[in-house]
Amino acid sequence: MDDIATLKDELLGAINGADNQTDLEAARVSALGKKGRVTQMMKGLGGMTAEERQVAGPALNALKDEIAAAIEERKSALEAAELEIRLATERLDVSLMPRAQAAGTIHPVSQVVDEITAIFGDMGFIVAEGPDIEDDFHNFTALNIPPEHPARQMHDTFYLSEPEDGSEQMLLRTHTSPVQIRSMMAGPPPHRLIIPGRTFRCDSDMTHTPMFHQVEGLVIDRNIHMGHLKGCLQEFARAFFEVDNLRVRFRPSHFPFTEPSAEMDIGCNRQGGKMVIGDGDDWLEILGSGMVHPNVLLHCGLDPDEWQGFAFGMGIDRIAMLKYGIPDLRAFFESDLRWLRHYGFSAFDLPTLAGGLAR
Ligand code: DAH
Repeated sequence: MDDIATLKDELLGAINGADNQTDLEAARVSALGKKGRVTQMMKGLGGMTAEERQVAGPALNALKDEIAAAIEERKSALEAAELEIRLATERLDVSLMPRAQAAGTIHPVSQVVDEITAIFGDMGFIVAEGPDIEDDFHNFTALNIPPEHPARQMHDTFYLSEPEDGSEQMLLRTHTSPVQIRSMMAGPPPHRLIIPGRTFRCDSDMTHTPMFHQVEGLVIDRNIHMGHLKGCLQEFARAFFEVDNLRVRFRPSHFPFTEPSAEMDIGCNRQGGKMVIGDGDDWLEILGSGMVHPNVLLHCGLDPDEWQGFAFGMGIDRIAMLKYGIPDLRAFFESDLRWLRHYGFSAFDLPTLAGGLAR
């Protein structure tokens, strides 16, 4: 029994003296491992007399349990100490400056599209879109611009290369008007559509780029007349330029796809070399419009005696330049970050009629 007490002191000494997991594991193996001291003594029980065993058996079992408990305790203590050390030494300086993020802005073209769709959306229009690559029928013929019509020359069309399989040669749409045709052919009237998109013409200077943006409007219903056109577009111009009593005037014009056709001007002042929209006696043209030509309705399978409508088309880039005082159109498409930061809009200020169109 003295042996057991001595051994116990010795083993507990090794266990409690272990100051890392490796030493503790070595102490465990030397006590309870296959060839450990306690294990060896347990094996010795077999060679004892029954009386000896009755005393030594429980004492050894108690020793084994005590040693195992001491190892567990030491293990927890070592783990807690290691955690303390890590907590004390590993640091994250939360006061460090974060890396500067490139802040994105909404491009003036996107902003103006959002503003226009907010205004027409409020009048019950929905947005429609069509492909950039068009065929001759949708871009010209169905819009009452037959082959040899002079309007085709005025459009400076980009044609795609002629397909080798003999299929039709395609083109980049020269205006958003072909989406009128696609929309009327896709479903029955009534239609109230606002159609923003990219358009392409072979042209480049301060106010022209080969790719630019237009927005088209189309209303088809019964008993639609020129009064609807005028009221709708006047309302739009006043909301868009945020001038309550903005003057507008309609001048007779000509487009193959409308009859009669009119261009809309808004009041402005050019004195002092600066353009101010709203006051003064000058006029500025902002869009083309008209009553949808009966031939266009017929091309779309609609009876002109039953359905009428009006349409309009406007250059988005141009009215963005006008509204926000941006001098050169070409800069719109150069992706210059300084320009974008200067003329861009916050992504958090969605244009709405209630909240204000632009801030
Ligand atoms: N498509 C014309 C253009 O490219 C603009 C236009 C004028 C569209 C009158 C229309 C319209 O819908 O009625 O210049």
